[in-house]
Amino acid sequence: MDGFGSEDGDRIVWLRGGATALALSCAKGRRPRILYCGVDIDGLEAHDIALLQTRQHVHGGPARPIEPTLLNESGVGLAGGPGLLAHRQGRDWAIDLRVVSLEADSGSATLVTRDKAAGVEVRHGFAIDSASGVLTAWSEVSNLDAGALAVEWCAALCLPLDDRLTDILGFTGRWAGEFAMEHVASFTGSYLRENRAGRTSHDCYPGLYLLEPGATEERGLCAAVHLGWSGNSRLRVDRLADGSASVQSGELLLPGEIVLASGEVYRTPDLHAVWSDEGASDVTRRLHRFVLESILDRRTEARPRKVTYNTWEAVYFDHSEAKLLDLAERAASVGAERFVLDDGWFGGRRSDAAGLGDWTVSANVYPDGLARVANHVRSLGMKFGIWFEPEMVNPDSDLFRAHPDWVFETGGAEPIASRNQLTLDLTKPELGEYLFARLDAIVRELGVAYIKWDMNRDTHHPVSAGRAAMHGQTRALYQLIDRLRAAHPELEIESCSSGGARADYGILRRTDRIWTSDNNDARDRQAIQRGANHFLPLSVTGSHVGPAKCHITGRVLPMELRAATAIMGHMGIEADLSLETEGDLAILSAATALYKQHRALIHGGDYRRLDAHAAYNAIAIVAAERGEAIVSCAQVEALRESHPPRLRIAGLHPARRYRLRQVWPQRDVSLTAPSIVTEADLLGKGAQFSGAALAELGLRLPLTYPDTCLIFHLEAAT
Ligand code: GLA
Repeated sequence: MDGFGSEDGDRIVWLRGGATALALSCAKGRRPRILYCGVDIDGLEAHDIALLQTRQHVHGGPARPIEPTLLNESGVGLAGGPGLLAHRQGRDWAIDLRVVSLEADSGSATLVTRDKAAGVEVRHGFAIDSASGVLTAWSEVSNLDAGALAVEWCAALCLPLDDRLTDILGFTGRWAGEFAMEHVASFTGSYLRENRAGRTSHDCYPGLYLLEPGATEERGLCAAVHLGWSGNSRLRVDRLADGSASVQSGELLLPGEIVLASGEVYRTPDLHAVWSDEGASDVTRRLHRFVLESILDRRTEARPRKVTYNTWEAVYFDHSEAKLLDLAERAASVGAERFVLDDGWFGGRRSDAAGLGDWTVSANVYPDGLARVANHVRSLGMKFGIWFEPEMVNPDSDLFRAHPDWVFETGGAEPIASRNQLTLDLTKPELGEYLFARLDAIVRELGVAYIKWDMNRDTHHPVSAGRAAMHGQTRALYQLIDRLRAAHPELEIESCSSGGARADYGILRRTDRIWTSDNNDARDRQAIQRGANHFLPLSVTGSHVGPAKCHITGRVLPMELRAATAIMGHMGIEADLSLETEGDLAILSAATALYKQHRALIHGGDYRRLDAHAAYNAIAIVAAERGEAIVSCAQVEALRESHPPRLRIAGLHPARRYRLRQVWPQRDVSLTAPSIVTEADLLGKGAQFSGAALAELGLRLPLTYPDTCLIFHLEAAT
């Protein structure tokens, strides 16, 4: 559909779906503008929202108030950060885009705007997912003139914010401490996250939540935005002195990275945004639903998420066939369904100092190849998976010796050493061919069903043929994965990057699992998973039972906690099982059985963080029809109070009665008796309570040691 309103007429287009509404003012010849975006409101009329938002001239200001546009481009004259910065060698930078045409249906729209004088055209795409209400937006800049157009910044969208959403929940972190949440209260100025890591990053996650003060998991206005992009990114919230606020995000472009010749286009990554007036957990549920139904390609949907054994912390680089055969047997005996051979199986890779890039099975370590290991794994009923780090090379490798020019240059800057490895320049087609050929061959030869695709350093100077190339690198990575998956449609891929540094919706469009963190310390993991699950559903967040003494934190934690923590994600095991006690192995077997029993619910139900006492991390997953639920409640700190608090379980049907039982640990861990465990026979046949009682009154938790995680199962009896 094209043709709309006259140049003077007010043309408003509505997109609606999943309780989200977007009203775009897009009269031909005028600046486009978002009149409303957020929770759909009954009776919201286009005329009303325009009129109700009338702004007037203020003394000392421009004659007519300047309204925000879709990109707040530099010619508009707004005080905040522009969403589009482009120029022709210093000219044509004061861009002012006017509506040219529109195509729209009820759930999506593409709007074309143009600045004729500057020779710039932009296509703005919008789509609202009818199930989750998630808005996806992008921009595509075209150069209409003869001279080259340098694009320095182009946001996917500048999104005006509801004035109640003054608080920010940001996500930062570090290696082994990903998805750390930070709360930022209202301010004037900018909240800026610039990621130059060349991957989603540990410290600048391209997503945040916006909250009205006092919002909880169950109540209050909340929103979230996320950029689906695995390269450099920028995310900023501007709160201006005029009282307005907006959020924008896009790809952080290095100097000169995007220069468009006449007719060329640059498309931003997708920005996703969602709102709810039912608290932060509803925002999360909407994002989870969107990821499960619209981001993941649904190849794995019908397959239960397999208990995954990973060799890394068991052997590191100390490989031998005998050890792997033994580990495979031990893994299968505790319930593993997939065996993933991690780093160290190829070339001269006996440490992280050599061999990276040489993707042939190491003849020194495996003189007869790896087929015996792979076949043994399969004979034990498990799938065989293997580790690659395709984008990297050790200088001490055959690949680098043969092709020293296949790595990024630094453009004259001093190279930054990191894990003895350099970033390969994937924009070189011949390198792409080499990598595809090697991965494809290994997958075929060994019957590989699963790849752990790693990427273990920041890329500081991505210079290819003298120019910045992180954009091309990220696209080339996507193409390589897409090609491999097209060749092997059954292959599953885990996205790993020194733990969780590549964990965005761009990579999730082509992978099946995220390695959430290298930190297997279950107490830390409770927090890391809580953070990660703000954007990532439990079915994709890999979570492993590590050794009793965590290799990263040195903390010794009980198997019951380690196992419970892994159950609330995509469960796996990453420890030398020959070093675990018989007692712990029995607990682990019971845990994998419990995970298998409940994984359809854990991965398919509605997730919510419970508003609980600060010493606890509590979540609930409620089945779609509310007939069943599982609740995990981990005590991660000692209590200040003498008695444990109540746990209020939200999300149940208030009028139905539920049989409540404790399914983990499979023993009474109350420090004194009687407790609710004995009184309500929680380890036996349980007791029935109404959903309303569990939500409003809650259950008094038993007194336990810290580092205890209780898992409850609830089944509707009526
Ligand atoms: C990264 C990953 C680990 C492991 C090692 C192997 O650190 O995050 O899980 O695969 O690489 O070198």
